[in-house]
Amino acid sequence: MEKRKLYMETYGCQMNFSDSQIVGSIMTDHEFELTENIAEADLIFINTCSIREHAEKRIRARLNEFKRYKKIKPELKIGLIGCMAERLKEQLLEQEQIVDIIAGPDAYRDLPHLLDIAVTGQKAVNVLLSIDETYADINPINSKGISAFISIMRGCENFCSYCVVPYTRGKERSRNPITIEKEARSLFDQGIREVTLLGQNVNSYNNDNGTGFAELLEHIALIDPQLRVRFATSHPKDISDHLLETIAKYNNICKSIHLPVQSGSNRMLKLMNRKYTREWYMDRIEAIRRIIPGCAISTDIITGFCSETEEDHQQTLELMKWAGYDYAFMFKYSERPNTLAAKKYPDDISEEVKSRRLEEIIKVQQELSYQSNLQDIGKTFEVLIENTSKKSCLELSGRNSQNKIIVFPSTKNKPGDYVDVLINSCTSATLRGKIKN
Ligand code: 5AD
Ligand code: SF4
Repeated sequence: MEKRKLYMETYGCQMNFSDSQIVGSIMTDHEFELTENIAEADLIFINTCSIREHAEKRIRARLNEFKRYKKIKPELKIGLIGCMAERLKEQLLEQEQIVDIIAGPDAYRDLPHLLDIAVTGQKAVNVLLSIDETYADINPINSKGISAFISIMRGCENFCSYCVVPYTRGKERSRNPITIEKEARSLFDQGIREVTLLGQNVNSYNNDNGTGFAELLEHIALIDPQLRVRFATSHPKDISDHLLETIAKYNNICKSIHLPVQSGSNRMLKLMNRKYTREWYMDRIEAIRRIIPGCAISTDIITGFCSETEEDHQQTLELMKWAGYDYAFMFKYSERPNTLAAKKYPDDISEEVKSRRLEEIIKVQQELSYQSNLQDIGKTFEVLIENTSKKSCLELSGRNSQNKIIVFPSTKNKPGDYVDVLINSCTSATLRGKIKN
């Protein structure tokens, strides 16, 4: 019998992409096969993000486009899954008539059953959050290429005042370390050469019992020196020297730390409920520089948060320059319904001011990224090759331990190989070089 076909689209963070692989695995175990051709799909899943209003708007626009496929094939079922499903629940069924299935991030095992209901013409919803679901026993469908994500924990209990995630992904829980190691080992045996361990706040992995995050990282690094290990995201409030020392100790734990600062102003950090100060954050950056020389540092910044003054904004710009970030993700504040900030503080910075401040932040970061890349000229880096370059098939591209993209000519090597590359030029986004013999 021919298998039914599932088409999936994913929005949002790396965790969502990792979740989609879990969903893919659950569905292929239930007589589905994946397709990349939406026109032949019997089932569409859209794995959604609620982090900013813009993300939700894009998803709604995409749902609108799905209408024509349903017109051609009325038996086509559409499932909206992930954070937006969790945030809006049944409301979505009224707002988006085209949707047949709603499933939150902890309800993916129930998807085959929800589909059975949908096939009878009823709408099907499961938005129950769980205290212990980690999908530990599910083997995500294979990643293409040479890198893979491994989700090591779910949920978040930090309650940053602007953030919807604690509401959409529920309580924090850590996955059993043995299952994580097993998954990493099996990925390596299949040819994967880089794994990224994912969690909303990896530093609080298994806080209460057994293996902590540093130990977990060590176990994964010891699988094979040829397996690179990355992780995201760290919360500045609990990135410890012990963790930094572990990163320094192993060549294959990548020298790249994503440490979202959000704002350089203590007043803003307090309103954001970030639980650290500017001074604490600076101390952590100094610790990284001291313990892991040459470590890349990246960050997230929100501009135009409630009541942010020009003075607060200047403090963010100054901190960025002081830290000399290699890379940053920068956003305008977007009020999310029912978060602490939405309840307590008015979203009082005009769109115009938010945009202008964002532009200033982006400009500073572009210069910092360029300066950081300039300093790499003349250095040699070990590069894990990922693909042929987008521009030319005679060129390959990959990344160094610091997560910078490096392009170089080669006709001999292939994705998955490690090569030493001497850097000879750069832009703010890319390093270029040649293989050292
Ligand atoms: N508005 C704008 N940016 C946000 N982020 C999280 N919530 C919001 C929001 N309401 C940003 C933060 C976080 C990143 C994943 O998204 O910078 O670190
Ligand atoms: Fe990821 Fe947050 Fe978006 Fe959910 S809301 S998909 S956790 S970025």
